[in-house]
Amino acid sequence: NSYTTKSLLAGEIAAGSPVQIKGWVRTRRDSKAGISFISVNDGSSFDSLQAVVPSSLENYETEVLKLGAGCSVIIEGELVESQGQGQRFEIQASRVEVVGWVDDPETYPIAKKHHSFEYLRTVAHLRPRTNAFGAITRVRTTLANAVHNFFYQKGFQWINTPLITASDCEGAGELFRVSTLDMANLPRNEQGAIDYTEDFFGRESFLTVSGQLNVEAYCLAMSNVYTFGPTFRAENSNTSRHLAEFWMIEPEIAFATLDDCADLAEEMLKHLFKTVLDERAEDMAFFAQRIDKEAISRLEHVANSAFERMDYSEAISILEKCGKSFEYPVKWGLDLQSEHERFLAEEYVGRPVVLMNYPKEIKAFYMRLNDDQRTVAAMDVLAPGIGEIIGGSQREERLDVLDRRMAEVGLGQELGWYRDLRRYGTVPHGGFGLGFERLINYVTGMENIRDAIPFPRTPKSAPF
Ligand code: 4AD
Ligand code: MG
Repeated sequence: NSYTTKSLLAGEIAAGSPVQIKGWVRTRRDSKAGISFISVNDGSSFDSLQAVVPSSLENYETEVLKLGAGCSVIIEGELVESQGQGQRFEIQASRVEVVGWVDDPETYPIAKKHHSFEYLRTVAHLRPRTNAFGAITRVRTTLANAVHNFFYQKGFQWINTPLITASDCEGAGELFRVSTLDMANLPRNEQGAIDYTEDFFGRESFLTVSGQLNVEAYCLAMSNVYTFGPTFRAENSNTSRHLAEFWMIEPEIAFATLDDCADLAEEMLKHLFKTVLDERAEDMAFFAQRIDKEAISRLEHVANSAFERMDYSEAISILEKCGKSFEYPVKWGLDLQSEHERFLAEEYVGRPVVLMNYPKEIKAFYMRLNDDQRTVAAMDVLAPGIGEIIGGSQREERLDVLDRRMAEVGLGQELGWYRDLRRYGTVPHGGFGLGFERLINYVTGMENIRDAIPFPRTPKSAPF
C-alpha cells in the first residue's frame, strides 16, 4: 500500500484506505493543539501531500518535531478527506519513519523558500527539490514521450545515430575532439603537426553536432525516420539560448519537399503543445502564475492557429522598413540575429514564423539549391521569446549539384558514403532539427536554457 502522492492527491485511492508514502519533507508546521502538519513531496506531482501527525506518536518529541525541509521520510496512516483548504486529501499519520536527516538545516543550500535561478544553477544537484525544477522535469519527460508517441503513431522509425563521428554536419567548426591520444605525448608527423591518424578511428573523430547525415541514410531506405539524442557544440557563446550539450529531435522524410518539412514541423509542435496542456495542467498553471503570465494562453493560441510562412527575402525587407534600430545590420545576404528573429516572431507576427529560402552562402552544404541559384530550400522556425527553435531544409539530392557545393566549401572524400546516397536511388528528401531545450523554454516561459536541462554544460559551467 505504498503510493505516489500524485495518485493519492488525484483521489485514485478511496478515503479510509491505509496508505504509505515515501518522499522529502517540504515544510513542517506545529499547532498548539499538539499536532504537526508535514508536507511531503516525492516528485510525482506539483503539490505536496500533507500528513497530520498527532503528538501521541512515540517519536513525536524526539524526531517529528525536528523534521525540516529536505529530510526523507516514510509515512503511514489513513487517507482522509482534508478539512483544510487547498487539498482534497491528507494522511492521518500513524507512523513516521525518518530515513535521512538534513545534517545542518541552517546551511541546507535550498532551505529558503525563494532562490534565484542563477543561484540554483550553482546547486544543480539539489535544485530538483524545488517547485520550479520539479515542474520543468515533469514537463521535459512529458515532451520527450510526446515526441516519441507522435512519430510512432505516424510510422516513423527511431534511429539511434552515433555520438562519435568524423563529419562536421553543420560545417561551423564547433567540434569537440574525441581522442585516445596521450595529450602529454602527441604523435607528430614529419612537419611537426599532430598526427591524428594515430587516433582511435585512425582518423580525427569528434562528438556529433547533429545526427542528420546519418539519419538521411536511414531515410533513404525506411522513408520516415527521426533521431532524438544529445548533440554537442563547442561554441563559446554565453547566451541564454546556447548550450554546449543539448538534445535535438531530427526527423527526416523521403519523397518530400520543403513545404512537407514545414507541415511536419507545425503538426509536431502543435501535438507537443496540446499534450503538455492536457497532461501537465498543474505544472503549466505554476509557470503561468510564477514565470510567464502567457505560458498557457500562448500555447493554446499557437496550438490552434496556422503558423505564418515567409520568405527570407520578404523578412529582410520587413526588417529594413520596420523603423526599429537593431544592434546588428540587416541586409540581404546576412544571417538574421536573435533580435531580428524575435522582432519577427514577437512584434511583427505574434506567433511562430517559418522563414524559408535563405541565401546559400549562410547555410550548410547539404541544403538544396533553388532555381534562382542564390537561395537554398532552408527553413527556420522562429518562436516568440526564443527566436530560432527549429532549423531544417530540403536536402540536395542531385549528385552533380551536391558535388559542386561540396567542392565550394572544401569538402572531399570523407563524405563518400553520403554521396552514395545520391548515387543509389536518390529521392527528394528533407527534415529539420528541433532543439529540445529551446522547446522546453518556449513551453514553460523559462528564460535561460541552462534551466531547461538537468545539468547544463556551457563554457563557464563546471561539470559535475
Ligand atoms: O539549425 P541547426 O544547427 O540545424 C541542424 O543541426 C540540422 N542538421 C538539423 C536538421 O536539419 N536535421 O540546429 C537545429 C536546432 C536549432 O534550431 C536550435 O533549436 C537547436 O538545434 N540548437 C541549439 N540548442 C541549444 N544550444 C545550442 N548551442 C544550439 N544550437 C542549435
Ligand atoms: Mg540553425
